[in-house]
Amino acid sequence: MEKITSLAKRRGFVYQSSEIYGGQNGAWDYGPLGIELKNRLAQAWWKEMTQLNDDIVGLDAAILMHPRTWEASGHVENFTDPLVDCKKCKSRFRSDHIPEENIAAKKCPDCGGELTDVRKFNLMFTTHIGAAEDTASLIYLRPETAQGIFVNYKNVIQSSRMKIPFGIAQIGKAFRNEIVTRNFIFRTCEFEQMEMQFFVKPGTDEEWYEEWKRRRWAYYEKLGLKMDHFRWRQHGVDERSHYAKDAWDIEYLFPMGWRELEGIHNRSDYDLSRHSEYSGKDMQYIDQESGESAARYIPFIVETSAGLTRNLLMTLCDAYDEEKVADKGNEDDIRTVMRFHPVIAPVTVAVLPLMRKDGLAELAQDIRKELKEDFAADYDQAGAIGRRYRRQDEAGTPFCVTIDYESKENNSVTLRFRDSMEQIRVPRAELSERLRKEIKEYKRVK
Ligand code: GAP
Repeated sequence: MEKITSLAKRRGFVYQSSEIYGGQNGAWDYGPLGIELKNRLAQAWWKEMTQLNDDIVGLDAAILMHPRTWEASGHVENFTDPLVDCKKCKSRFRSDHIPEENIAAKKCPDCGGELTDVRKFNLMFTTHIGAAEDTASLIYLRPETAQGIFVNYKNVIQSSRMKIPFGIAQIGKAFRNEIVTRNFIFRTCEFEQMEMQFFVKPGTDEEWYEEWKRRRWAYYEKLGLKMDHFRWRQHGVDERSHYAKDAWDIEYLFPMGWRELEGIHNRSDYDLSRHSEYSGKDMQYIDQESGESAARYIPFIVETSAGLTRNLLMTLCDAYDEEKVADKGNEDDIRTVMRFHPVIAPVTVAVLPLMRKDGLAELAQDIRKELKEDFAADYDQAGAIGRRYRRQDEAGTPFCVTIDYESKENNSVTLRFRDSMEQIRVPRAELSERLRKEIKEYKRVK
């Protein structure tokens, strides 16, 4: 993880938030390569959910919601972690993360000092809206994007004529006052989620649940990730969230071990029933196609809930590779290479003139300008060509296009592949088409 954190900072994927002031715990900033990677991960998920599924539409709800939302959702009452403090060293722990003997003996696992009683700590951030800072103006920063979908489900049906079964997808920020924020961007106080809520007829929920488990696994396979680093884990009954009838996590083998990447939940009719109760609005679906008399029911919800920023960490870990390469007679030279799938790579193609002189730089700029219309195309003319390849390898750029003297003579370029370091000659006129083909047919070998 240290290597990944250091590369992330050095190459502009992720910076510590407010670093010049000593940093802000639980918050991170995404640099030039990081924002490209994050945007592409979001686009890949959005395409998978909305473009490739006729029965899923998108939504972008506000972060600030009516405070009753969070009473109805159960978050005010249940969204808590059990917390203890050490009176001596002032360390703070989640009591379910330290040995039971320590809790029983009230003994700090770090310094042996006395621990406080376990108390419940609500993870929602609160703030105030308007001029008065009283209880009437209290408002929460949303701890999940899901509720914005539930409260809009009738609006979506009315405006887009969706019929059950159908889904609503959303990507957005969520906030949790996490007690322990460790492991880089894995668990942070401000993060982004990619959530999809699928509304189904009661009784068909288990079938749909299995279908969504299958589809989410297939999605990660499509991104060319190391699938032996993925596994399923079912939540035990006492571990499940208050809304869940069933819950499975897709876990990823991060450097610190197996951890949750995405949750697939059968939320039953809990959310819509509660919103109906708390708002007084009828949340029933009227099924016009169910025979003579229209049937009414509160839909069940199958949720797929992935962290976007956690997915970004996963892709950094998954892509990171160090490879021994024989370079200029030095048998032990190591190259660091980020093996991103071209669909998510921050830069798709880098154009490099072999020399700056003799018109090569101008020709390279011209080719880059052409490629920019269709691809994320970078340009680099600084330093020896070998160094420039290494820089692109480290940024995870899958293709480099080199312009040399032959390019001037016969309008061809060298296309270099990041993974194999193989180089081939391609006519300039065929370059775009060739890149499109390579992206489409990309298979990860290592
Ligand atoms: N709507 C359901 C829900 O929010 P969750 O299991 O609490 O379920 C879903 O969160 C996903 O959101 C997690 O699998 C994780 O990827 C991401 N996530 C949750 N808390 C996070 C945090 N503090 N920092 C980064 N990502 C987080």
